Amino acid sequence: MSKINIGIVGTGSIVNTYKKCIDELAEGELVALYTKSASRKESAEKAFGVPVFDTMDEFLQNDIDLVCVCNESGRHGEAIKAAASAGKHVLCEKPLETTPHKIDEVIAFCKAKNVKLGCTLQNRCGEDYQRVVEAVGSGKLGKLVMGNAHINWYRDEKYYDDSKWKGTMAFDGGAALINQGIHTIDLLLHIMGSVTSVFGKVSTLVHNIEGEDVGAGILNFQNGAIGTITAGTALFPGYPERIEIYGEMGSILMEGGSIKAWNIKDTPTFEPTSNADKGSGAADPTAIGHQNHKKVIIDMIDAIQKNRAPMVEGPEARKAVAVIAAIYDSSKSEKLVYL
Ligand SMILES: NC(=O)c1ccc[n+]([C@@H]2O[C@H](COP(=O)([O-])OP(=O)(O)OC[C@H]3O[C@@H](n4cnc5c(N)ncnc54)[C@H](O)[C@@H]3O)[C@@H](O)[C@H]2O)c1
Repeated sequence: MSKINIGIVGTGSIVNTYKKCIDELAEGELVALYTKSASRKESAEKAFGVPVFDTMDEFLQNDIDLVCVCNESGRHGEAIKAAASAGKHVLCEKPLETTPHKIDEVIAFCKAKNVKLGCTLQNRCGEDYQRVVEAVGSGKLGKLVMGNAHINWYRDEKYYDDSKWKGTMAFDGGAALINQGIHTIDLLLHIMGSVTSVFGKVSTLVHNIEGEDVGAGILNFQNGAIGTITAGTALFPGYPERIEIYGEMGSILMEGGSIKAWNIKDTPTFEPTSNADKGSGAADPTAIGHQNHKKVIIDMIDAIQKNRAPMVEGPEARKAVAVIAAIYDSSKSEKLVYL
């Protein structure tokens, strides 16, 4: 099959991960980048070794099959719509956009333009995580009773001071929950199923930002189970993210992408195959490895070549943002929010 030509929107830190992945792929090739700032053009061309364009029109005139949207979260929608209008398939970084309403718009837009829209929620590709999905899906835990996600991370003030968009409502959509917490919240929902209502509380207690640096939510799942979310970027020193799944037959705990406890009544305890560090971003956003991103990009290329749906489509990517938005709404109204 012929190679898929890839263009990237953005020249920020996550683009380095995409470059590393694409360089290792036989199925795809990086052909062009877009940056909104003309001043970044030259340095980006040196860093990435492909032409960099500072107008979207010129960028999209290239022979590109797939556009990877890697710019600020609150600009994802405009980039997705521009790419889709030019007939390009889109793989967009999390979150697809900053509100459920904006996500609905891009889903409808891509559908109307008949292009595929995938979202990079790469932690779904983790090997230990997939073991948990299989165990829960095959009923090993029995009826689910509780699911918790804790993303008790830390970012210093410099992390926000150095960025024009992180922690802003317009371009980040919030902060700790929607930027850092979203991956683990996505995994929790993927395992536990639909959420019917949420009670939440968020606060900005340490950092000089608009969005929250601590947040918590209580979830009611459709299957009757209850759950909790805690997240923060003010929780020094930042601990590996944690997922706890409890069923009537036992429980499984994951930390930093690895299974830490596996206790199911009358079955042998799971022996972790690897305790290797999976690269948690608990204290350092650059510590995230690239292997799961690579799997997402390979899946997207395969979806285009075989004309099938990508691993995480728009409606699936919307779920975590909808729960996070409900936590924000509940915190404002001090009421239970129904989804
Ligand atoms: N999947 C993951 O694990 C993961 C990890 C990190 C980021 N992301 C997502 O990727 C997107 C981009 O995040 P990021 O961390 O790469 O952001 P970033 O701040 O490094 O870059 C964002 C944008 O700002 C521009 N930019 C960066 N530095 C600049 C400078 N000095 N002058 C002018 N422009 C500059 C870049 O061109 C880029 O388009 C976000 O949506 C984020 O949520 C995902």
